[in-house]
Amino acid sequence: MPELHPDVAVLAPLLGTWAGTGHGEYPTIPSFDYLEEIAIGHVGKPFLTYSQRTRATDDGRPLHAETGYLRLPAPGRIELVLAQPTGVTEIDEGTLSVEHDGLAIQVASTSIGLTGSAKSITALSRSFGLTGDELTYRVAMAAVDVPLTHHLAATLHRQRG
Ligand code: HEM
Repeated sequence: MPELHPDVAVLAPLLGTWAGTGHGEYPTIPSFDYLEEIAIGHVGKPFLTYSQRTRATDDGRPLHAETGYLRLPAPGRIELVLAQPTGVTEIDEGTLSVEHDGLAIQVASTSIGLTGSAKSITALSRSFGLTGDELTYRVAMAAVDVPLTHHLAATLHRQRG
């Protein structure tokens, strides 16, 4: 395993695998609960790799998945580059703060790419909080003619071994 690039050393507490549960809602769909796994790694270059997959809590069917990268362009700043199988690419930019025993990340979309068959998504915002071995996040989106509205909240825990 190469050494973590010093430019992303501040993100070291995110490295590893995470598992937990979330709740999703949006004005146009029934609410739902989901199980989630996240893997965050590195290859010694100045970015972290990120992949996520979810399943429905009720019957285990696959729901959303996404994969991408985390980058730190300047102190206190973070960029997310994500691809989703729903025909969406998402670039988010925002702030990273190092807090006691954790991290806080707040980003908003600066660019969203949509394939011809993707649903209309015009804005996203995501916030992440890491405290010790607990990772929480929230996602809001503007989509299908609904303004920026809460879609997801989840809590995951670090998996060991
Ligand atoms: C943990 C991650 C996520 C889960 C579990 C999840 C789950 C769901 C589910 C179950 C639905 C309703 C059924 C469906 O259309 O497939 C839905 C709808 C939707 N989701 Fe998510 N989602 C996630 C993340 C996202 C993200 C990151 C985006 C945008 C980038 C997004 C955009 C949408 C849109 C546009 C709809 C359709 C709303 C409509 O048609 O009225 N979702 N999501």
